[in-house]
Amino acid sequence: PLPVARTVRELRQTVRSWREERLTVGFVPTMGALHEGHIGLVREALGRADRVVASIFVNPTQFAAHEDLGRYPRQEARDAELLAQAGCHLLFAPDATEMYPPGFSTRVEVDGPSAGLETDFRPHFFGGVALVVAKLLNQVQADVAVFGEKDYQQLLVVRRLARDLDIPTEIVGAPTARDAHGLALSSRNAYLSDAELGVARRLNVILRDAATQAAAGRPLPGVERDAFAALLKAGFERVDYVSIRRADDLAAFRDGVVDAPARILAAAWLGKTRLIDNLPV
Ligand code: PAJ
Repeated sequence: PLPVARTVRELRQTVRSWREERLTVGFVPTMGALHEGHIGLVREALGRADRVVASIFVNPTQFAAHEDLGRYPRQEARDAELLAQAGCHLLFAPDATEMYPPGFSTRVEVDGPSAGLETDFRPHFFGGVALVVAKLLNQVQADVAVFGEKDYQQLLVVRRLARDLDIPTEIVGAPTARDAHGLALSSRNAYLSDAELGVARRLNVILRDAATQAAAGRPLPGVERDAFAALLKAGFERVDYVSIRRADDLAAFRDGVVDAPARILAAAWLGKTRLIDNLPV
């Protein structure tokens, strides 16, 4: 069975023992309810380090009061089994008071890549992510940490954070794992009914089509407007955004056409479930 550390002290004891053996350390932070996408990150980390720590912590500071913190899927025993099968060496699964003890007062705000997109609709989100990721990276002190491109804006925020705070862990991005229909795997897909799943699978198709048009030089406002309308027509009840941005910093294209590496990013709702996805253009 997979060893589990519940406290930072236990985590550091194990990591210190690995360091004494001159072993390198990889790290994969998660909120649990693991799927093949998360396991892919563990494999990526195993390819880059001798020992791999995965964390499971459903981080309250990145959820707004009205969001799904309370109903976020929790299945630690199953997750631990999947991690062990994948070859992970340690699970770090602290509780909320280990991470945020009484009197906790520090905030971490990353500007730059956090501006717009997710922040326009979830203004609390990247503050909570930056805070918990800064803590986790300091707690584990890994050589390398792996994050998914599925959360593309988050990946850029984490890279910026690590650079700005001189955190010596290398931040690696891994491609998005998808089902046979191209739907990006997500813990939140578990909320979807069969009918909603059918609609959800249209998201990547519509984004791919829009990406093709943008890459061919069609002006972006028209591409984005059509993709937005196509998502509503496919059955999404609400669309937060569809946007084509520069891949390196998520800045908008000033001339309204793609003239540098680009990414199309979207967020849309099915019932109470909010899905996000993105693709290279
Ligand atoms: P969570 O949503 O559990 O995702 C954990 C990691 O898995 C993130 O780096 C995410 O981008 C990656 N991931 C999720 N679905 C993926 C997929 N289909 N393919 C590839 N990678 C995928 O993201 C978070 O948790 C949290 O915000 C966290 C970084 C842990 C901070 O709390």
